[in-house]
Amino acid sequence: MTDISDITVLGGVDKDYNPEFIDEIHIRAGEIVGIVGPTGSGKSTLISDIEQLADRDTPSRRKILINGEEPDQGLRMDTKKKRIAQLSQNMRFLADMTVVDFLRMHAKSRGKNSDTPERTIETANLLTGEPISADSQLTILSGGQSRALMVADIAIISDSPVVLIDEIENAGIRKRDALELLSGKGKIVLVVTHDPVLALTTERRIVMKNGGITDIIETTDVERQMCAHLSRMDGYLMELRDMIRSGRSVEGLHQRLSF
Ligand SMILES: Nc1ncnc2c1ncn2[C@@H]1O[C@H](COP(=O)(O)OP(=O)(O)OP(=O)(O)O)[C@@H](O)[C@H]1O
Ligand SMILES: [Mg+2]
Repeated sequence: MTDISDITVLGGVDKDYNPEFIDEIHIRAGEIVGIVGPTGSGKSTLISDIEQLADRDTPSRRKILINGEEPDQGLRMDTKKKRIAQLSQNMRFLADMTVVDFLRMHAKSRGKNSDTPERTIETANLLTGEPISADSQLTILSGGQSRALMVADIAIISDSPVVLIDEIENAGIRKRDALELLSGKGKIVLVVTHDPVLALTTERRIVMKNGGITDIIETTDVERQMCAHLSRMDGYLMELRDMIRSGRSVEGLHQRLSF
């Protein structure tokens, strides 16, 4: 098993074939890096270059190194061990089986304990509003439930050293909890996000434009303080959302509107 402690992205070209802003970016174990940029700017493409261990063979012409070296063939082919897990933007379960059967099968292929499927469902249910039941068919899960299940599956069963997350905020799940769950100690995490709280939780953010990397911004101390403040506002909004969703009045939270 390859221990992945460092990923290098060697720059390629943008959509007009102009070279990218940097020659190389190193991302180390334990780091959470954001990816920001407008629609169509190439964020998902960067994520998938990393997932596929691009070798100048994708439209961006980027090359990915693992621990400073060319990834070996085994890692490139190895979809089963999932050393690099992606939570993708558009995901659907196609398998026609129940939640618990799917998790059992996955846990078994990873040599995990027999209580793992139940733990995975419990964890997923911390992230969603409507709980997922073990004997539901995968295909009837809602968008948010599917995402929550994938997050828990990646965190608990795959336990991959590299986690790539494409826009967690559209999923209607508790995004900060999800990020925390996925960014276990020593992992490399890349997260595409438009969300200020998530973006400022990262140590650096890669800025995309026209298919290319145009900047890398380090999160400053002031931004970190803003993040703490925004996070409280976000918690408040989440509470309001939950109350409205469950058909209650929000008048009781009126006093807390000033920050
Ligand atoms: N460097 C590049 N060279 C050529 N084509 C590119 C490059 N980067 C991205 N593209 C193409 O541009 C299109 C948009 O890219 P992508 O889906 O990665 O954008 P995105 O930032 O994820 O957008 P969204 O915010 O809508 O999800 C895709 O068709 C992709 O193949
Ligand atoms: Mg995208």
